Amino acid sequence: MLKESKNRYFGAYGGRFIPEVLYPAFEELDAAWKKYKEDAAFHEELQRLNSSYIGRPTPLYYAENLSRHLGRAKIYFKLESLAHTGAHKINNALGQALLAKKMGKTRLIAETGAGQHGLATAAAAAKTGLECEIFMGEIDMARQQPNVFAMRLLGARVTAVSEGTRTLTDAVNAALKNWTKRIADTHYLLGSALGPHPYPDMVREFQSVIGRETKQQIWEAEGRLPDVCIACVGGGSNAIGLFSAFLDDEVELVGVEAGGHGPDSGQHAIRMSGIAKTGIVQAYKSFFLQDENGSLLPTHSVSAGLDYAGIGPQLAYLAETGRVRFTYATDEEALKAVELTARKEGIIPALESAHALAEVIKRASSLSQDALLVVNISGRGEKDLFITAPEFEKENWMNFLRAEYERLAKDGK
Ligand SMILES: Cc1ncc(COP(=O)(O)O)c(C=O)c1O
Repeated sequence: MLKESKNRYFGAYGGRFIPEVLYPAFEELDAAWKKYKEDAAFHEELQRLNSSYIGRPTPLYYAENLSRHLGRAKIYFKLESLAHTGAHKINNALGQALLAKKMGKTRLIAETGAGQHGLATAAAAAKTGLECEIFMGEIDMARQQPNVFAMRLLGARVTAVSEGTRTLTDAVNAALKNWTKRIADTHYLLGSALGPHPYPDMVREFQSVIGRETKQQIWEAEGRLPDVCIACVGGGSNAIGLFSAFLDDEVELVGVEAGGHGPDSGQHAIRMSGIAKTGIVQAYKSFFLQDENGSLLPTHSVSAGLDYAGIGPQLAYLAETGRVRFTYATDEEALKAVELTARKEGIIPALESAHALAEVIKRASSLSQDALLVVNISGRGEKDLFITAPEFEKENWMNFLRAEYERLAKDGK
C-alpha cells in the first residue's frame, strides 16, 4: 500500500511551515490522505481510471535507433509522454482530484509552470465534475499559450500572476494565498513532490506508478534491472515517481536539472549540483536558490517546467545521502536532444524531458556496451511548439504567424 514519511521529514528536509489560517485545511487533508491511501475501493477507482482514462500502463520503449546512434548501451524510454494530456502530471492530478471529491470539495486550485500540471488538473476537474482555477506566472502564460488555451477549453479559469519573477515560484505563492480565502470548498492540488507535508508523500505515491510499471516492464524485456535511471528534475515528481521503485536496488539514479545558459550565467535552475542553500520557503524545508538575505533568486530555463528555485524534500535528502546524483543540462543541450530524439526515434520529447536525454547523450561514450538505461520521457513536445519552432525555423515560423494573423484579421475575428 502507500507509504508515508516518518515525522513529516526526509532527514532534515520537508516538514510543514504554514500560516495558522491553513491549519484546519491541512488537518482535513492529512486525515483524508491517511484514510484513503489505505482504502481498497479508492485504489480500485484510481486504477480503473489510470487504465481507461490515462492510458496506463505507458510503454517502456526500447529506443533502438538512438542506442545504435550513440553506439553504447541499451536505452529505454518510459513514455509518460503517451499519458492522457501529454505528461506524467495527470497521474497526480487525477489521484488528488479523486481525493478532493471524497473530501466533499467542489473546487480545485493549482499552480502551473509549463502548463502541463494545469492542463492535467483542468482535465481531472472536468472528469470529476469540479470547478477549477489555475494560477500561472505571466511569463509562463506567454511561452505556454497552447496549454493556456487548452486549460480554458477544459473549463478552467486561468489567473495570471504578475508578482515577482512571474513564473512558477510566484504561481505557488498565489495559489497558497487563494487557498487561505476558500478553505471550506477548495482543495489545493499541488503539482510536484514538494510543499508542506503531506504533499511530498502524496504526490510521490500517485507518481510511483511510473517506477512500479518500469520495474515490471524492464524485467519482462531484459530479465534484469536497469543500471541507470535518469529523469529531469523541476520540483521532482517525475524523478521521484520513477526512482521510488529502485531506491533499495543497485541502480544508479540520476536527476538532471535545468542548466539554462550555464552555471556561471546566473540564469539557470541548478540547485543540487549548484549553489542552492537550505531554507524554509513556501512552507517546507529544502534547498533553494537564494541570495544572502534568503530571498529566492530568479531562475531561468528554456523549459518552464524546470524553471523553479526549490526542490522536493525527499530528493534533497536523497542527494545528501548520495543515493541520487544530480547534474544539469543547458538550454542548448536540451534543444539538441529534442532534435536528435525526433530524428532518430520519431518522438518529440518535452523540453523538460530533453534535459534527461541530454545527459544520456553526454554519458553515451563512457557507458559499457551491455549497460541498460531507462530515461523518463516525462512529457511530449507539442506544448513547446512556440519555443522550439522559432529556435529551429525562425523565418518559416514568423511567416506562418504573420500569415495567420493577417488571415484572422481579414475574417474580422
Ligand atoms: C513534461 C514535464 N516534465 C517535467 C516537469 C517537471 O516537474 P517535476 O519535476 O515535478 O516532474 C514538468 C513540469 O511542468 C513537465 O511539464
